[in-house]
Amino acid sequence: MSSKPRDGFSSKFGVIAAAAGSAVGLGNIWKFPYEAGQNGGGAFLLLYFVFVILIGLPVMMSEFVIGRKTNANAVGAFKSLAPKTPWFFTGVMGVAAAFMILSFYGVVSGWTLEYIYLAVINAFKGQNPEQLSKGFNEFISNPIRPVFWQVGFMTLTALVVIGGIKNGIEKITKLLMPILFLLIVVIGIRSVSLGANISESGEVIGHSYDGLKFLFKPDFSKIDIDVVLDALGQAFFSLSLGMGTIITYGSYIKKDNNLKKTAIEVAFLDTLIAVLAGVAIFPAVFYFNVPPTEGPGLVFSVLPSIFQKMAGGYIWTLAFFVLFAVAALTSSISLLEVAVAYFTEELKINRLKATIITAVSITALGVACSLSNSVLKDVSFFGRNIFDTMDHVSSNFLLPIGGMLIAIFTGWVMKQSEFYNELSNNGTIKIKLFKSIYFIIRFLAPVAIAIVFLYSVGLLG
Ligand code: PFF
Repeated sequence: MSSKPRDGFSSKFGVIAAAAGSAVGLGNIWKFPYEAGQNGGGAFLLLYFVFVILIGLPVMMSEFVIGRKTNANAVGAFKSLAPKTPWFFTGVMGVAAAFMILSFYGVVSGWTLEYIYLAVINAFKGQNPEQLSKGFNEFISNPIRPVFWQVGFMTLTALVVIGGIKNGIEKITKLLMPILFLLIVVIGIRSVSLGANISESGEVIGHSYDGLKFLFKPDFSKIDIDVVLDALGQAFFSLSLGMGTIITYGSYIKKDNNLKKTAIEVAFLDTLIAVLAGVAIFPAVFYFNVPPTEGPGLVFSVLPSIFQKMAGGYIWTLAFFVLFAVAALTSSISLLEVAVAYFTEELKINRLKATIITAVSITALGVACSLSNSVLKDVSFFGRNIFDTMDHVSSNFLLPIGGMLIAIFTGWVMKQSEFYNELSNNGTIKIKLFKSIYFIIRFLAPVAIAIVFLYSVGLLG
C-alpha cells in the first residue's frame, strides 16, 4: 500500500461541498425527472425515498468508513482491510463502473455545453416545447456536434483532475453549489405559479398544479419490478454509491469529521435537489402539456420554455445551463478520480499519464454512446442501444451489486468494533441508532438488494 501523505479536504463544509458535488449532478437534474416521468411520478418518488434512507444512507456510511480508515483508493482499501482475499474485486468492479458511467455521462454533459452556447446566442427565443424537443432530437442525432462537446467536456474534466482536485474542486463547489440550489428554487416557484394554460379559443391546455399532483401523489398501480429496480439504481446513481467514489473521497477526510452526520447531510441535500428539480420541471410539463414520459430530452425541452416566461429570461437560461454544466463537472471529476486514484496508487502510473489514459479510453467509449443516437442507432443489446446499455448495466446492476458487496463487507468481514470506532472517531462521538444502522448493513441492505435483483432477472417471483 502506498503511504504517501494525501492532502485532505480543508474544512467540513469543503467535505460536504465536494461529496455533495459528486452526488448532485445530471442524476438529479436530468435523470431523476425523466425516470420519475417514465415510472409513474409519485410512486417512483416514494420508492426512491425508501431506498435512499434504508439502503443508501447505511451504504454511504460504510463507504466513508472504509475510505477514511484505509486512506486508500477503491481497490487498495479492500486490499488493506482484507489482504489476500478476492474482496478487492469489489473495487475493480467500481473502476469498471466508473468507465461505463462516465462514458455516457460525458455525452450528456457535452449536451449541457451546447445548451450554454444556444443560450448565449439566444436560440431558444420564441420556441415552444414542441419546437425545443424537435431541436433537441435533431441535435443529438447529429453525429458530429455532440461528440465535439463531449470531447470538450472530457478535456475539462481531465484538466481539473490532473491539476489536483482538492484545491480546485473544493473551491468551485463551495461557491457554485449554493447558487445552483437558489436558482432551482426560483425556477420551481415560477414553474408552480404558471397556473392554467388557456388557449386563444378558451380551451384549457394544461395546469401546473397537475404536475405537483403527478410528482407527489403515488399511483401504486404503476409499480412493477422494473420500476423498483430503476428506483434502486437511481438511488445508488444519484448518491454516487456502490462503486468506491465515496470510499475515495472518504480517504481524503480528516479524522475528526463526523462521518455519520456528513452522510446524512449529503444524502439530504442530494434528495432535496432531485425533488426541487422535479418541482421545477413537472408543473411546467403539465402546463405545456408535454408528455412526462418524453425521456432524456425532458429537461432540455421544458426548462428553456419556463425561462421564456420569466422576466430576464436570457440571463436565467444562461445561468441555469452554466450551473447545470458545473454540477455535471463536479460529478464527472469524482467519477474520473475513482479510476485515476486506482491507476496511480495500485498500478503506480503517474497522475498525468493515468488521467490521460483513462480519460481518452472513456471518451472513446463515450463516442460510441453518443453515436448510438445517430449512425450506430441500430446497434442494440437486448433492445437497448449502446447509450442505454451503459446506463442500465452500470446503474441498475453494477452499482447495486457493488453496494450489496460493500454492505456485506462492512457487516461481516470488518469487525463490528472496527466499524464502530471509525464511525464514532474512536468513541469520541455518540452514534445514535448504531444498532439499527449495523443491523441494516448486515442484513436488511444486502437482502433487500438481492431480492430486487433476483426478481428483476426473473429468478424470483
Ligand atoms: N451522482 C452523480 C449524479 O447524480 O449525477 C453521478 C455519479 C457520480 C454516479 C459519481 C456515480 C458516481 F460514482
